[in-house]
Amino acid sequence: MNQLFRRKHYDPSDYKTGLNRVLGVWDIVFFGLAAIIGAGSFSSLGEAIFRGGPGVISLYVICGIACGFTALSYAEFASRIPVAGSAYTYAYASFGELIAWIIGWALIMEYSFGNIYVAFSWSDYFTSFVERLGFHVPDYLSTSYPEAKKAFENGSENKELLNAWTTAPHIGGLRFILDLPALLINICITALVFVGIKESKNFNNILVVLKIAVIMLILGVGFAYVNAENWTPLNEEGIPSLMPNGFSGVMAAVSGVFFAYIGFDALSVLSEETKNPQKNLPKGMIISLVVSTLIYMALTLVLTGMVDYRKFDGIGDPLSFIFAPENANIPWMEFVVSVTAIVAITSVLLVFQMGQPRIWYAMSRDGLLPKRFSSIHPKYKTPGFATIITGIAVGLPILFTDKSFILDFTSIGTIFAFVLVNGGILLMPRKEKIPGRFHMPYINSKWIFPVLFLGSVMGFYLWIPEFFHTLTDWSDPAEGEFRLSVCLFLLINLVLVYLSFTKNLSLIPLLGLTCCLYLLTGMTHNNWFWFGLWFALGLLIYFLYGMKKSKLEKAMNGDLN
Ligand code: ALA
Repeated sequence: MNQLFRRKHYDPSDYKTGLNRVLGVWDIVFFGLAAIIGAGSFSSLGEAIFRGGPGVISLYVICGIACGFTALSYAEFASRIPVAGSAYTYAYASFGELIAWIIGWALIMEYSFGNIYVAFSWSDYFTSFVERLGFHVPDYLSTSYPEAKKAFENGSENKELLNAWTTAPHIGGLRFILDLPALLINICITALVFVGIKESKNFNNILVVLKIAVIMLILGVGFAYVNAENWTPLNEEGIPSLMPNGFSGVMAAVSGVFFAYIGFDALSVLSEETKNPQKNLPKGMIISLVVSTLIYMALTLVLTGMVDYRKFDGIGDPLSFIFAPENANIPWMEFVVSVTAIVAITSVLLVFQMGQPRIWYAMSRDGLLPKRFSSIHPKYKTPGFATIITGIAVGLPILFTDKSFILDFTSIGTIFAFVLVNGGILLMPRKEKIPGRFHMPYINSKWIFPVLFLGSVMGFYLWIPEFFHTLTDWSDPAEGEFRLSVCLFLLINLVLVYLSFTKNLSLIPLLGLTCCLYLLTGMTHNNWFWFGLWFALGLLIYFLYGMKKSKLEKAMNGDLN
């Protein structure tokens, strides 16, 4: 048992020292916006709107708050164990090997699987861009097989998907359908990371300015085309509603919405390079999350005002789609948005594709993965093998998965990692303030959390009593699943209320934990099934390999080679 929770003690010489403290608040904000704003706003916003309708705007606020609290927990971790690394490294030092492995395994979902979605989005914008230049990529070469199949079987109205299915050539009895641009961009990005591309701060800043400028242009131009009636489409009963598919419809959009926030966790690693990190780091993180939230809310308003939310089914390039001939019909806007999206999304691809091999590198150095994962290419000085495996991990599923599956899978894994990070901070003993380091303010949750939680439940009860009256009716498949999840969420929170009262838990990570748990209520049993399978596979690999090969195991046995 002790083996599972053995911790890694970092040698002070491992700590990053001598780094220049050069970053101010606005550098953090720029870095944040570079990592956060990408395929989530340019792509998954469309699917989120289709599932939840205009009311999905409320989910952007909830996700922004959840990520804000989680960002502070990440910063606290980073300042306690100031070794360059990710949540995996922090967990290894504080909670031991098993939890570290689980977090490392969940981060594969964030980085590698996340990038599959980003590659699909890149392809959507790329094909719409070359279309404007007069080149048509056949639909069966720019669509994933399962997506086309699903659209055909479910009677989707998306013409491109249906066209891909009906026009695809047959090879050996199978339809030949694949997303070629997504595959090719993955190969290019893998090659770039393999030879060691350097991130440049100035280039990053130019990209951020470009992204924001184009988003402002979309908002400015788009607003003139808003038809306010679109904001309250008819629901099943024929009543105009902000949430035509109910609140469960909004929660079904959680993956697409949450995905748009992924990436802010990268900010926590800047703690050693920030001037006065105690103040500037949380400020920078919160500002970048607030800016992103405001942008997402404004985009949701404009998109759902311009086009009926039902038209976003299967639309991977919603920001250019709103200017397409069948909508606002502004060709130059369609063009400008496609070009910017391609550049913006490429930068997100690079960040994630560079992050994954480095996590594997750290895990391999600790003995939890084979040595080859930490081998450095003699010429390019990059973790070459791990980079190629990342390319394969992203490339192969491009052939077999579809966007919505991968979006759900990425989001559930990342929210799970965030739950562990917030929960982890709750379990850590309080520490003294260390000058120059970030210190999460301790606010005793003893009274505040029970009052907040029980007060919110009561407030909701007074607002929509029927929601509570039907909470234990699980007969309807879609609504029932959501209601069951809400029941579990309420039960877990009652336990947290008890613990906050008896153990004086720290309020900020507690709120982060409860917000992330809430987001998990939007996941379906299908998401949980695949996540469980992935989780079980991870544990199997750990028990068969990592546990025995761990450097700590060898150190215990006196064998350090
Ligand atoms: N938040 C990142 C994006 O939207 C993952 O692309």
